[in-house]
Amino acid sequence: MKLTIIGSGYVGLTTGACFAEVGHEVMCVDNNAEKVATLLKGDIPIYEPGLAEIVTKNVAAGRLKFTTNTPEGVDHGNVVFIAVPTPPNPDGSVDLKFIEKVAREIAPAIHSYKVIVDKSTVPVKTGEKVTETISRYAPDAEFDVVSNPEFLREGCAVADLMNPDRIVIGANSDRALALMQKVYEPFRAPVLATDINSAELIKHAANSFLALKISYINAVSAICEASDADVELVAEGIGMDKRIGRSFLNAGLGYGGSCFPKDIAAFIAISDDLGVPFNLLKEVEKINHDQLERFIKRIREKLWVLEDKKIAVWGLAFKPDTDDTRCSVAIELVERLVAEGAEVRAFDPKALDHVKNSPLGDKITLCGSPEEAAEGAEAVVIATEWPEFANVDFDKVRDSMIAPVMFDGRNLLDPKTMERFGFEYHGVGRGLSTNQ
Ligand code: UGA
Repeated sequence: MKLTIIGSGYVGLTTGACFAEVGHEVMCVDNNAEKVATLLKGDIPIYEPGLAEIVTKNVAAGRLKFTTNTPEGVDHGNVVFIAVPTPPNPDGSVDLKFIEKVAREIAPAIHSYKVIVDKSTVPVKTGEKVTETISRYAPDAEFDVVSNPEFLREGCAVADLMNPDRIVIGANSDRALALMQKVYEPFRAPVLATDINSAELIKHAANSFLALKISYINAVSAICEASDADVELVAEGIGMDKRIGRSFLNAGLGYGGSCFPKDIAAFIAISDDLGVPFNLLKEVEKINHDQLERFIKRIREKLWVLEDKKIAVWGLAFKPDTDDTRCSVAIELVERLVAEGAEVRAFDPKALDHVKNSPLGDKITLCGSPEEAAEGAEAVVIATEWPEFANVDFDKVRDSMIAPVMFDGRNLLDPKTMERFGFEYHGVGRGLSTNQ
């Protein structure tokens, strides 16, 4: 099938590449000429495992094309996906100016029946607005609007797209639904067909539920610390109940990234706007915020004054397997340590370049390895659970530190093992008895 994706960010680019990988003819449109030039050269502007390979392969096969020209894109595809950013407004609500602009740009370029798909995460009833907008700017255009939210996770986006748990298609027309089913046929995944409003809600409700699970276990972690219990065991015991499941019950510094903080704030704003305030989600946000505060308090309690202390921070990305530092709790933590006068020596396997080019880059020392960051440090803080941090030479790390104190903000390491290596170990929600 001929498909068009408008917006070549994380979602648009990976979705376009995966559509091409299963045999569709895909044209990706982006108004950033520099980005399109980069992509045409075969360079991928983001780090996402497996993405570069499928982009290169499908460009070479002629199934994946890039352009800055929206009318050319609309002309190409029978189905046109909108995958542009939906950034937050200062009050948490969603700024839909890019969606509105694309709807206006698409309208005059529609010369035959098109399915226009909202792929971006948008508030419920955005589909209605897109329909109204296109009809206003092109009264004779023949089209249907569909909501088809994405559920890909950064760091495993290609795998999530190629093997989805489910495909949600929100359509109010059988013709549009039939075309969308054809688009997804090669993925052999369960399809849930809904109305447009329900599909839009599914995305916000799914992300909010996952964030709720994280905040739930983080609230339990605070109780574990106060009662000398181990949140890892509690999560194990809860998660063995099939109705609950173990995933997204990892206690730590809380959720970050470009999706959860924004989507939870948006869902709160949407529910307020609809006159049915979702107060539970306000608590989810608060617990997430408190989690970092409690961790910093713990560091302060153990190290006392942070001014002039050398602190190694392992991990800057918002989670492993990505170079993305947007709304990263690790970055927030580093900023807080710096604000208290600590000398931060940081390492991240993929995100160093992003941080080097940010204002924080001048305020901390960026190191080439976790071992180098720990040299001469008075504590190591694990802020992102990159698996390789569990395999460093801990004897070497201990010997090179001024004091072997480890604050594991992601419960990556085993407390007993770290004690055997001679570290004073502090995890999240793992009681205090082993740390006294
Ligand atoms: C999330 C959802 O998982 C995807 O399904 C969704 O499509 C995507 O948002 C989106 O809206 O586009 P992502 O932001 O890539 O994906 O990352 P997650 O793997 O969900 O992690 C989000 C944050 O939660 C990270 O900071 C992670 O460290 C944290 N987390 C996750 C925990 O603190 N504990 C957990 O148990 C799991």
